[in-house]
Amino acid sequence: MPETAGRHDLTMPPMLTGETVQPAQRRLPGAPAHVGVIMDGNGRWAARRGLPRFEGHRHGVEALRQTVRAAIEFGLDYLTVYSFSQENWNRPVDEVADLMGLLKRFIHNDLNELDKADVKVKVIGARDNLKADIRALLEAAEERTKDNTMLTLIVAFNYGGRQEIAAAARALAQEAVSGHIKPADIDEALFSRYLDTAGIPDPDLIIRTSGEQRLSNFMMWQAAYSELVFLPVHWPDFDRQAFSAALAEYSARDRRFGGVTGQYRSDALLARAAKT
Ligand code: IPE
Ligand code: IPE
Ligand code: MG
Repeated sequence: MPETAGRHDLTMPPMLTGETVQPAQRRLPGAPAHVGVIMDGNGRWAARRGLPRFEGHRHGVEALRQTVRAAIEFGLDYLTVYSFSQENWNRPVDEVADLMGLLKRFIHNDLNELDKADVKVKVIGARDNLKADIRALLEAAEERTKDNTMLTLIVAFNYGGRQEIAAAARALAQEAVSGHIKPADIDEALFSRYLDTAGIPDPDLIIRTSGEQRLSNFMMWQAAYSELVFLPVHWPDFDRQAFSAALAEYSARDRRFGGVTGQYRSDALLARAAKT
């Protein structure tokens, strides 16, 4: 019996009904391993149609389903979706309740299909101020899918990049006080292991929809060298084609990580090799 939350009918078709997603290819050379998506613009999508904001969020879940399918098809290893920020608690209580309800529905309706598609679900963000039922649901989703390997779907829920960094600093300070580490041991590698994303490579590409050009506290540590693609489309209209276009833009970028471009890099390596 599907649970209904709040004022809205939350019945939605599950993600992969009647179809099996075939990964078209494993990751192509030069394609990103990890893509982060800031799913923005649901409210404006709804407002343009004279609909309540909730309708934008509801259609946004459909776009999320398509995005997960496309990520499998494109052979990504990790897809991180920003679904609720710690600052989003500042929204009206009804909207917050709607967003919580949609997360619950998404997990209830889609977990089976995600599991069948060999998707591992991981949730990042604070857990302590979440209601017990949501916490339990998130933990159950992670536990059930922990051995899956096709794609890791990282749901950034109740997430804040700065809060994540502060929590890591707190934990490291505690380790130092208890004598397990020395302050001098703290470097980038050790710090990363105290973030929610420990063991996950940094996002190669971050896509934000809705035309806004900011990170809004998303992956403040991990985004240090991510390529950023901002799309004018609102999240409910994001689809496989928009995703594919963002990947094409990514593949045309020259990632330098503070070094020099490809041609200069090869020249520099040749010159260094000639000296040795
Ligand atoms: C993104 O859409 C969903 C969340 C932030 C939870 P918004 O709700 O931010 O939509 P806009 O930006 O108001 O259009
Ligand atoms: C970022 O969108 C958070 C999510 C997409 C979950 P917001 O709509 O909250 O960001 P701002 O307020 O426009 O910066
Ligand atoms: Mg927004």
